[in-house]
Amino acid sequence: MAYWKGVIEEYRAYLPVTEKTPVITLKEGDTPLIYGPNISKKLGNDLKLYFKFEGLNPTGSFKDRGMTMAMSKAAEDGAKVVVCASTGNTSAAAAAYAAHAGISCAVFLPHGSIALGKMAQSLIYGAKVIAVEGSFDKALKLTRELADKYPVTMVNSNNPYRIEGQKTAAFEIVDTIGDAPEYHAIPVGNAGNITAYWKGYNEYYKKGLSKQLPKMCGFQAAGSAPIVLGKIVEDPQTIATAIKIGNPYSWKSAEAARDESRGLIEAVTDQEILEAYQLLASTEGIFCEPASAASLAGVIKKNKQNYFVDGQRRVVCTLTGHGLKDPDRAVSICSKPHVVKPELDEILKVLNL
Ligand code: F0G
Repeated sequence: MAYWKGVIEEYRAYLPVTEKTPVITLKEGDTPLIYGPNISKKLGNDLKLYFKFEGLNPTGSFKDRGMTMAMSKAAEDGAKVVVCASTGNTSAAAAAYAAHAGISCAVFLPHGSIALGKMAQSLIYGAKVIAVEGSFDKALKLTRELADKYPVTMVNSNNPYRIEGQKTAAFEIVDTIGDAPEYHAIPVGNAGNITAYWKGYNEYYKKGLSKQLPKMCGFQAAGSAPIVLGKIVEDPQTIATAIKIGNPYSWKSAEAARDESRGLIEAVTDQEILEAYQLLASTEGIFCEPASAASLAGVIKKNKQNYFVDGQRRVVCTLTGHGLKDPDRAVSICSKPHVVKPELDEILKVLNL
């Protein structure tokens, strides 16, 4: 049996690497595409819902696909320090891959807006963690200024190697189902991932490896939806902290993905996100982080409007990050555990037996 070698080795022919590139990998990729029988049935309309569970990457998010590329190229170029601004997942991936590569790493996080698990990751992987008093957008601007003036390598999605690595998720989907799905639903924050998937689907299509291209359906959180509103949001608000971004870097290419695919980018409310988040865990057994559930929340909303009518009505939702990244959110929306004395009678009472 062949072992999975990580996205660079598996998709080398599609990536800008050479024999000289040292491959920095934690064996990211090869994440499962899980069919959701229960939610598909609940939504009706002959929908076939699949979940690309990116939470099962080495640091628990899709960022590892881009980071293996960015860090390998940084190592090839002899980088000593890598930096990024992040809502928590990019920083976790940067810190882990930098540790693996033996490169120093500094991460800039919006103070008070980072989920607990993500903070723990950046700290334990040994990055220098800098909490900036202000939004992600401010932290990103500072990081760009720093990288312009000092000898540090930026590994945000302005680094084109990040997009190259992330496009491999689209390859895996086509490799798994034998074609592109009719629709692809995805949360949108800094807008790199929707850009990357669209690039990946197009590359496979042009090589004749898929017969069709999906309509790209991006979803932003309503309180933080600059692309939907068509203007920068100065003070974005949402419980989905991963996508709490008011001025996305890849704004233009996300619009291009939407328009070229004849898809859409729309908003979902925090309430809709949380309902989708809980539904996915409790009916399919898949625990993703709140921002990730924006993709399913959007599908539920668009299905009510009978949006999904093409072909076999296959909809792939990218679930970008693992639920354990943000345990506080899960605990806060669920009912509390029953505390009982260590007696069988007490348990029987709780179970109504
Ligand atoms: N979902 C999760 C869990 C994320 O962490 C992000 C982005 C997105 C969706 C949106 O992806 O930015 O490519 O549109 N997180 C970045 C970070 C901003 O710093 O971790 P995008």
